[in-house]
Amino acid sequence: MSLAICPGSFDPITLGHLDIISRSAQIFDNVIVCIMFNSNKTKPMFAISERVEMVKKVVERFPNVRVDTSDGLLAEYAKQFDGAVIVKGLRAASDFEYEFQMNHINKKINPELETMFLTANEKYTFLSSSVVREVASYGADLTGFVPREIVDEIEEKAKLWRQK
Ligand code: PNS
Repeated sequence: MSLAICPGSFDPITLGHLDIISRSAQIFDNVIVCIMFNSNKTKPMFAISERVEMVKKVVERFPNVRVDTSDGLLAEYAKQFDGAVIVKGLRAASDFEYEFQMNHINKKINPELETMFLTANEKYTFLSSSVVREVASYGADLTGFVPREIVDEIEEKAKLWRQK
């Protein structure tokens, strides 16, 4: 059985992430969406437990997708699954530089581990979690940025942030 791991910080999950997850679910028998820490992103909007709930709500529709978390290294996490492949989305050349480096670091730690890249749907090349957080912080409508099931939750959180 083939297995893809879609890792990310998902703070919050966007329609771009969902597109990569749903395409992975068509290519692979099973997919794990793994919510992880990115040490470059030190001021999260959502706690890990909140992100897990949001991602679960959104991927419920895919029977072969499950959600997990890890606070360790991705390359170490993947070792527990024989033959698992990391799947990541690429939006632009800037993503490629970062992902190319990550791929080599992961390979150093876990030489068996392969990473595959899916090019982002052109509808979502502009989209990132940080764009969502920025737009939400101004109280703007998030429809078209994030899955509709979680629009209200993000808008509520952004409202609390604005009141701080
Ligand atoms: O959605 P993101 O923030 O671009 O995802 C990046 C993520 C979380 C996949 C990456 O930071 C990661 O793999 N974090 C786990 C720790 C790790 O393995 N870091 C890379 C080697 S130093």
